[in-house]
Amino acid sequence: MRLVLLGAPGAGKGTQAVRLAKQLGLVHLSSGDILRAERAEGTELGKTAERYMDAGELVPDDVIVAMMAEHMAKAEAAGGYVLDGFPRTRAQAEALEQRLCGQSSGLEAVLELKASDELVAGRLSGRRVCPACGRVYHLRNSPPREAGRCDQDGRELVQRPDDRLEVIGQRLKTYHEQTEPISAYYREQGLLKEVDGDGEIDCVSARLDEVCRHLTGVR
Ligand code: AP5
Repeated sequence: MRLVLLGAPGAGKGTQAVRLAKQLGLVHLSSGDILRAERAEGTELGKTAERYMDAGELVPDDVIVAMMAEHMAKAEAAGGYVLDGFPRTRAQAEALEQRLCGQSSGLEAVLELKASDELVAGRLSGRRVCPACGRVYHLRNSPPREAGRCDQDGRELVQRPDDRLEVIGQRLKTYHEQTEPISAYYREQGLLKEVDGDGEIDCVSARLDEVCRHLTGVR
């Protein structure tokens, strides 16, 4: 099974993709997480991506498409994936379609989490992450048990550089200009399912579960 999660920065893609992948036995492939891992390892790809990410802009399509192809190949062998953060431009969506053309099955659905700019800006500015295990928290909505420390490994939580207020505005601009238009591309193909991303995390999960129950072959 192959799913795509679309939505603005902070719409909850990562939070929900982790749950969906676990529930459906799929691999969670987050382009942002893969890029951050490349940066942490100091690879050439990571160095190339750094300046775009910290400025709230998109990494060039050719770099992303090659990177995701490698990860999708492994996930396909493991039974499928939930894509989070990819595709993000029309060119990336077309590259994905081309890749899936030669395979026995394509995308089952594209789930779009809808949330206002005001809502996502509040989520992003309050997000904190564990630099060791990657677990995501929110200062108000899902705080750790001990302030500033990861529940899992006790490490001090950090703020992503692109979650600073001055970068959030640019990320939203980039999203509206380059990513939002691909909803129409998927709507035309009959793949788009819009899901309200406003509300508590469990509430949004329940809405996604409901959509997934209606997809062919999903229990
Ligand atoms: P990426 O890491 O993909 O960032 P993003 O799309 O901006 O998404 P986020 O991770 O910020 O948000 P999310 O929707 O996953 O929200 P989350 O669940 O964490 O990309 C980073 C950068 O990498 C890009 O800017 C670009 O430079 C580059 N890049 C990546 N992919 C690319 C591509 N395909 N092409 C080109 N460049 C690419 O939730 C956010 C916060 O809200 C958390 O604190 C969470 O706890 C909280 N929260 C979540 N849901 C709820 C809820 N329902 N109620 C209350 N709080 C909630």
